[in-house]
Order: sequence, then C-alpha cells, then structure tokens
Amino acid sequence: MIIMQLISPTFSDLMEPNIEIKLFPDGDSYVRINDISKCQGEDVALFHRLYPKQNSAIFNTAQMLHTLKRVGARVTVVAPYLPYARQDKTFLMGESLSAQVLCKLLREFGTIKVVTIDCHFLKKEGEMEYSKLKINNLSAGRLLVEHARKKLGLEHLEVISPDQGASYLVSDYGGKSMSKVRGEYENSVEASRSVESVEREFEVKDKNILILDDMISTGGTMLKAVENVKKGGAQKVICAATHGFFINDSLKKLKDACDGVFTTNSIQNDVAEVDILPLLKSAVKKD
Ligand code: R5P
Repeated sequence: MIIMQLISPTFSDLMEPNIEIKLFPDGDSYVRINDISKCQGEDVALFHRLYPKQNSAIFNTAQMLHTLKRVGARVTVVAPYLPYARQDKTFLMGESLSAQVLCKLLREFGTIKVVTIDCHFLKKEGEMEYSKLKINNLSAGRLLVEHARKKLGLEHLEVISPDQGASYLVSDYGGKSMSKVRGEYENSVEASRSVESVEREFEVKDKNILILDDMISTGGTMLKAVENVKKGGAQKVICAATHGFFINDSLKKLKDACDGVFTTNSIQNDVAEVDILPLLKSAVKKD
C-alpha cells in the first residue's frame, strides 16, 4: 500500500514536484526530499523520469534512493521510460549489457519495484523480474490504438508492428508484424546501426494502417515501415509509439511521409498526445 508520492521535477509537466534537484556550481547534482520525515518506514512511490539526460537522471535516482533508504522507506520507482533498455543483448564481444547494469544499480540502491511502460527488453505486459529487479511493465498499446481510431475517425484500422520485438503490442489486433534488418555499426563516434530494410509477408492493399512500436528514436524503423506499406497500396497510414524521442528531424520526416504521428507523454515531445499519468497512478494504487 503506497502512502507517500514523491514527485521529482522531471514530472513537473504532470504533477507538482515535492523534490528539489539543482546543480552545484561545478555541475554536481544537489537533491533534497523536502518531506523526508513523512517517508520514515513508509511505502513510497517515486515518480521520476529517466529521460532526457539519462545519465544524470539515473544518478539522481541513486541519490534519492540512498536518502530514502536512510529513513527505512520502501521505494517503488515510477519511471515511464527505462533508458538503456535496448542494450539487453550484445552484438560484438566486450560490449556492455547496459540494461542489466541499470537494473542492478536500481536494485542495489534499494528499489523494491519499478513501474514502467512498454520496456523494450521485457516485450510483454505484467509483473516480472529482470536481472533480479521486480518490474511492473504496463502497456500503452490499447490507449494508442483508441487514440488512433479517434484521430482518423475510423473504427476499423489494421494494427501492425514494424518489427518482431514489438509484436506483443499488436497481438490483441491480429498480431501482424513486419521484420527488420539492421546493418553493422557505422564507422562514426556514434554507436548507431541503421535500419537496412523492413519486410512484410501480409497484404495491406486498400487498408488503413496503424504502425505501432515501443519507441521512435531516429525514426529509421518507422520511415522504412511507412514506405513499405505505402508501396503495398495502403490507404491511410498513421504511426504511433509509446516513447517518442524524434532524434534530429525525424518527426518532420515522418509527418511528411504519412497521415499522422503521435506518442504518449512518457517523454515530452511535440506529438505527445496520449497521457500516461492515469495508467501509472492506477498501477501504484494497486500495490
Ligand atoms: C527496436 O527494435 C525498437 O523496438 C524500435 O523499433 C527502435 O528502437 C526504433 O529506433 P529507430 O527510431 O532509431 O529506428
């Protein structure tokens, strides 16, 4: 039973913060939980976004967890998007399994449970353990589909995913997924592997299509998927994802390529049209 809700400034667009996060002149983080005396021995829900500026957001989480542990609080971290979640596998020898590193850090600093949404490495909804960390992975899939239907004014939409990883998001809607091929790491200072192709083995001709993914980052996946279904003769094409980063000009490119793009507000962006706060709050209440 959660007694206290702690809100970090990273949630200030959705709730009134009651934690202070500032910087010292040298750039070190200063964190203060004003209501710490009310947290003594209590079950606490800590609402804190871990993106953007993920590395400092993670360090701030450790600072808050350490402070709360000192007063015996049991903390559920509510972080709608988990950074590093795509680094759950290695491609080259010696690469870091950063998804496990993140979970280990959260666990060792005293997190009882994480509540998150459409976490990339879990690929299913529900309560589970990953790297010994308890996670309640919620899904925004149904909210996104409802929103797409309203936006297009269409009851019938074929809901598909651009790759196999997001197939759980479309399983309630017929479960059609395309398959994606990524290339090698590009020879650059950035660790990026471009999307070479997205292939499809089902018909889309004359259909209205919603392409649903857990996230849109550089937009490479969605752009290839839109191109593919347009070539296949789809009528209206709309794309949606739980988490939208829209690196560089990818939002503009996607808007130009299809009939609509939107995400939830797990990450703030210009097309964050679906509110995830009620979903997060109801998950915390049920604890
Ligand atoms: C990875 O498989 C994810 O589900 C997304 O498809 C991917 O992360 C999107 O990244 P990008 O927008 O850079 O193609």
